Amino acid sequence: MALSPSGSVDPLLTARPATRSPEPLIDANPPASPSRRPAAVITGASAGFGVEFARRFAARGHDVVLVARRREPMQRLADELTAEHGVSAHVVPLDLTQADAGDRLLAEVVALDVDVRALVNNAGFGTYGAFAEADQARIAQEIALNVTAVTLLSRLFLPGLLAAGDGVLVNVASTAAYQPGPYLAVYAATKAYVRSLTEAIWQETRGTGLKVLALAPGPTETEFFEAAGSEKFKVGQMLSVPAVVDVAFRALDRRDTPPSVVAGHRNKVTAVAAGLMPRRFTLAVAGRLTGE
Ligand SMILES: NC(=O)c1ccc[n+]([C@@H]2O[C@H](COP(=O)([O-])OP(=O)(O)OC[C@H]3O[C@@H](n4cnc5c(N)ncnc54)[C@H](OP(=O)(O)O)[C@@H]3O)[C@@H](O)[C@H]2O)c1
Repeated sequence: MALSPSGSVDPLLTARPATRSPEPLIDANPPASPSRRPAAVITGASAGFGVEFARRFAARGHDVVLVARRREPMQRLADELTAEHGVSAHVVPLDLTQADAGDRLLAEVVALDVDVRALVNNAGFGTYGAFAEADQARIAQEIALNVTAVTLLSRLFLPGLLAAGDGVLVNVASTAAYQPGPYLAVYAATKAYVRSLTEAIWQETRGTGLKVLALAPGPTETEFFEAAGSEKFKVGQMLSVPAVVDVAFRALDRRDTPPSVVAGHRNKVTAVAAGLMPRRFTLAVAGRLTGE
């Protein structure tokens, strides 16, 4: 997806799949007819938090659009959600690090003709190790997924979510967003970006009815550590996947949803303390906890 350097034409508003004629983006979210359920688009829905987000939205009567690379686990989840909750569950196998992933997901959503009321940008991964030795291709992938995809999907779906009047945007950050992460430098930086981006969107959309939330989980037993190739990410209070997703829904259920929420009381205290302490001290502590 190319961004216009001149700013004269906003391709994000006009970008359409090659197979469809140009239409305004808002058509991705046509007004709900009484027969249509609201739908939630959830990325990273083949494992971990994404599965739990999908279960919660389905239990609340949402159709779901499940997005990740692996089709099979998503198909199993889709079958489960349809059987248990009677909702429509759509599976979109997609590598979100691909440059055209946003356009392709939007095309799928348009083709499915679902009434998107929620987007959960949850797909993400981390990498452990000294920055000087980090693999460049992996760095690029990590930024493409954790930063670029989150940014462009937020942007692509935001007009429709705003038009819905009661939309939800959740971007999954991390407690790593609250201080730099020695030996997880890129990951922590991507999550600081997610938190910053999301909180800015929260402010820009205040009073519109849209709920915007950056969720900051602490270490949680998912496939994350295997994908990261290290248990060194396990710093802080461990919560279960359902407990973390509970934190998100409790925040979303509040009349005045906060811009971000840290899962776990001890993690919250650590996040606040990291911002108050002198930077050298915060870095020294972080370095001791995550160091090789
Ligand atoms: N678990 C933790 O301790 C923890 C703590 C703080 C924040 N988080 C954040 O929570 C989010 C979810 O992670 P998790 O813990 O649930 O980890 P997980 O179990 O490893 O799940 C990651 C999900 O992202 C998907 N994904 C990975 N690469 C992708 C790609 N290129 N394109 C599309 N989807 C992709 C994976 O599916 P496929 O492999 O099928 O593509 C999977 O569904 C991430 O953003 C992570 O940074 C996790």
